[in-house]
Amino acid sequence: MNGRSVFVTGGGSGLGATTAQRLAIEGARVVVGDLDFSAAQKVANAINADGYIAYAQEVDVTCHESLEAVVQKSVERFGKLDGVFACAGITTNGTVVDMPESDWDRIMQVNLKGVFLTCKQTIPFLERAGGGSIVPAGSITSFTGVSKSCAYAASKAALVSFSRNMALDYAKSSIRVNLVCPGHCETPLVQELFRNTQGLRESLIARYPMGRLSDEREIANAVLFLLSDESSFVTGTELVVDGGFLAA
Ligand SMILES: NC(=O)c1ccc[n+]([C@@H]2O[C@H](COP(=O)([O-])OP(=O)(O)OC[C@H]3O[C@@H](n4cnc5c(N)ncnc54)[C@H](O)[C@@H]3O)[C@@H](O)[C@H]2O)c1
Repeated sequence: MNGRSVFVTGGGSGLGATTAQRLAIEGARVVVGDLDFSAAQKVANAINADGYIAYAQEVDVTCHESLEAVVQKSVERFGKLDGVFACAGITTNGTVVDMPESDWDRIMQVNLKGVFLTCKQTIPFLERAGGGSIVPAGSITSFTGVSKSCAYAASKAALVSFSRNMALDYAKSSIRVNLVCPGHCETPLVQELFRNTQGLRESLIARYPMGRLSDEREIANAVLFLLSDESSFVTGTELVVDGGFLAA
């Protein structure tokens, strides 16, 4: 990733933070964007303290103006943009009847519209750089049911179609688009789900053929592959990283 500049949304925590660190170690200059600026700053500071290059930006992926300002500043800072990990995402647990309409709207705003707006703002800069790679964060729920995840799963399933179609639109511009679809990792997002639902952790582990959940670094490795030239002929597809969950 030497000489590459990558924008990571949701970079202040979990999969975004671990991937930002990994990309920086591989030589990328990383913009760590997050709604939670202090979290983003901690991640960027840790990367810098290790001698790699990153800087933090407060960004709200549901807000066109916020993204526009951050992407502009990032390009000014690093000279160009080659890669995007659109990782910001949220969830809540609930059946259709339990779930307030506002939760549905917020999940769709962040998980789906947030990726649309992130791509809308970054693609012109990727084109200017002569191409690049975009990796939105899907999920195993893009393809299968997990109880009480209807809104979250619907947002992640929509990203399959969104990413495949966008890949077609920009293939001639050498912009690749691939969805990374992780199985469960014990990030803050998932830890909260486990706190709210007794027995969920154990029942999920029992469904994983490998008998465990994922390590964040295993997802970061997959994103690194998709953002790097190692995946130069891979576009319009999904990379599922789930320890065999979907195959079971
Ligand atoms: N952890 C898992 O098991 C898992 C599995 C599959 C997919 N995913 C997906 O991976 C992504 C990251 O999940 P995670 O588990 O690391 O979650 P996390 O909660 O640890 O991190 C998500 C980050 O996104 C940020 N964020 C939320 N709303 C935002 C907004 N509007 N603008 C900018 N930033 C915002 C949060 O502040 C947080 O730092 C999500 O899209 C999630 O759906 C996670």
